[in-house]
Amino acid sequence: MQAEQLESIAAMVREAREIVVFSGAGLSADSGIPTFRDGATGLWNKVDPDEVASIEGFMRNPGRVWNWLLQLKKLVDEKAPNAGHEALARLEKTCRGKQLAVITQNIDGYHTRAGNTQVLEVHGTIHRVRCHHHCGFAAAWQEDALEPFSCPGCGAPVRPDLVLFGEMLDEAVFGAAEMRSLTADLFFCVGTSFTVQPAALLPVWAKRAGATVVEVNPHPTPLSKVADFSIRGGASQFFGALSTRLEATQA
Ligand code: OAD
Repeated sequence: MQAEQLESIAAMVREAREIVVFSGAGLSADSGIPTFRDGATGLWNKVDPDEVASIEGFMRNPGRVWNWLLQLKKLVDEKAPNAGHEALARLEKTCRGKQLAVITQNIDGYHTRAGNTQVLEVHGTIHRVRCHHHCGFAAAWQEDALEPFSCPGCGAPVRPDLVLFGEMLDEAVFGAAEMRSLTADLFFCVGTSFTVQPAALLPVWAKRAGATVVEVNPHPTPLSKVADFSIRGGASQFFGALSTRLEATQA
């Protein structure tokens, strides 16, 4: 990335009033969490999401979905936020006095762990389980919960509190993400392939509502045609450089 391009994006951050960072699996790649669709390492190139991550799959065989997600949770617990997450937490500090929201499709909880305070997890989290019938029961996913169990409140199945294929997104969380997207003046998209709806609509709505859209991804995506800037590189490198530049010019 050229110094001039970095400076023009830093200038946009300084001038912006409301900033959104919309993140996907590519942001956690440097933590050692595989993405879903990248070549041979992509999770969905190894297992069938219909079997391990769909609501129909859960109804057919709750144990299989539970076990696959438990393995993913163990990996997330073993690994940690990377330099990209940390740079975004630094960015929030640098942007004190402005609104900076993270809207993430990731279920790993790394944004909050790194220190961002305004995080909307539109696909839920792997760290919590809940009653499938929404009776109100929810709890941290304890390490010894190795198998699906019945809700202590109503007896319905308890399942991971994340969005499975074939399910609607949480209305309140997605509604808040929509509002943030419509009022943002600067919208970063990082590490996502824009293949899963409705989350992939958020940058398009932001752009239509007048935001400047910056994509950070080593590879072109369907958003690249719409984005005002496409940074062809890794998230850690770009946000690390951006936060360092903003901190230096603030001092
Ligand atoms: P994908 O695996 O579809 O896309 C990951 C994107 O990250 C690709 O476009 C890569 O080029 C890019 N990428 C890889 N390494 C990167 C790096 N170091 N820095 C920046 N970008 C990098 O993941 P998502 O778009 O997040 O849904 O997938 C969306 C949804 O599909 C997920 O939330 C999940 C999945 O099925 C649910 O679980 C409901």
